[in-house]
Amino acid sequence: MPKKTIRDVKVRGKKCLVRVDFNVPVDPDTGVIADDSRIRAAIPTIQYLIENEAVVILCTHFGRPGGRVVEEMRLAAIRQRASDWLNTPVADAGGPDAGEARAVVDSVRPGGVAMLENLRFHPGEEQNDPVFARGLASLADLFVNDAFGTAHRAHASTVGVADHLPAVAGYVMEREINMLTRALESQEKPSIAIVGGAKVSDKIHILTNLARRVDTVMIGGGMVAAFLEAQGQSGGAAEISQDDIHAAGQLLFSSTTKLMSPSDVVVAETFSSDAAPKTVKSNDVPPDSFIMDIGPATRVAYAEEIIGANTVLWNGPMGVAEWPQFAEGTYAVARAIAATPDGLKVIGGGSTAAAVDELGLRDQMTHVSTGGGASLEFLEGKELPGVAALDDKD
Ligand code: 3PG
Repeated sequence: MPKKTIRDVKVRGKKCLVRVDFNVPVDPDTGVIADDSRIRAAIPTIQYLIENEAVVILCTHFGRPGGRVVEEMRLAAIRQRASDWLNTPVADAGGPDAGEARAVVDSVRPGGVAMLENLRFHPGEEQNDPVFARGLASLADLFVNDAFGTAHRAHASTVGVADHLPAVAGYVMEREINMLTRALESQEKPSIAIVGGAKVSDKIHILTNLARRVDTVMIGGGMVAAFLEAQGQSGGAAEISQDDIHAAGQLLFSSTTKLMSPSDVVVAETFSSDAAPKTVKSNDVPPDSFIMDIGPATRVAYAEEIIGANTVLWNGPMGVAEWPQFAEGTYAVARAIAATPDGLKVIGGGSTAAAVDELGLRDQMTHVSTGGGASLEFLEGKELPGVAALDDKD
């Protein structure tokens, strides 16, 4: 780990501004937190600071309120959930403007915790406004960034504050950097990257980066259509850009890595949740149908390859996994990774992690990233601004 962490600095008695990513999914109808794994992930960092008698000032964004107060995006329920897991009260510090939060923050005793209101209620957050950043920094003596999920955003609370305070990583940030780096640089062979998702254009950089590093790349999801078109076959009815077909062709014909693409796929006549699934060979996709999942023969072939691997890195579902009749390919990959006896098994965030959780397989994985966009950019080989802003180890 090239960056300083909370273990490298003195925290006792210090006011610590702790940036977490508590941007959790909520049920759209009830507003109830649907998955609190991001909150649970940050508990060890906060606990460490509490035990070491630091003053903990938590801050996070939630949703995309666009720089103004949106009542449904207040943090009350999230603050309560954090408090439940910590088994200690988390005071509402208000704000997020520092001037409004200062009175509560100044009243917190060592070992106590307060939380600012949603950072994105202030326009300065996403603009990385220096005045807003300086205000946040003025509340604390130390900046602890544990928000790996937001490390790809150059915002006031992820980058700007680090201009004014010593800046170190919390445990979530440290583990994410270590595990994703280990997976990217793994010499535990054979190594496999499984990449899914709707469009090649969203995944082209990760595909290119991983194709340089692993022994085998497997593809799935809607992007399979572009790979079929690049080989002169029908990719079905979905709109595929020429750029995506070109990018798929580049990978197919110029990469020296073994590239596995589906031999059969599940298609549907309409792109809808109640569409009837039908399995066809990949070279026989009806032009008026949509590719919705990898087929049964492909699931078996992928699983056989995965089970023999010593490093597996997975990002992106194999089909439209939120609709049960098109989730089987994604589930088959998750089960195969879980069944792989040894080695490194790293899952890159978002809907991929959701599939692993639906099957209760999280514990069988070496690491499930808390980052969606952040883990994607990390695996693309990009330097994340929120990581770059942290202090280097001496
Ligand atoms: C995420 O959920 O990926 C992060 O919290 C970042 O959220 P954003 O995409 O709204 O910046």
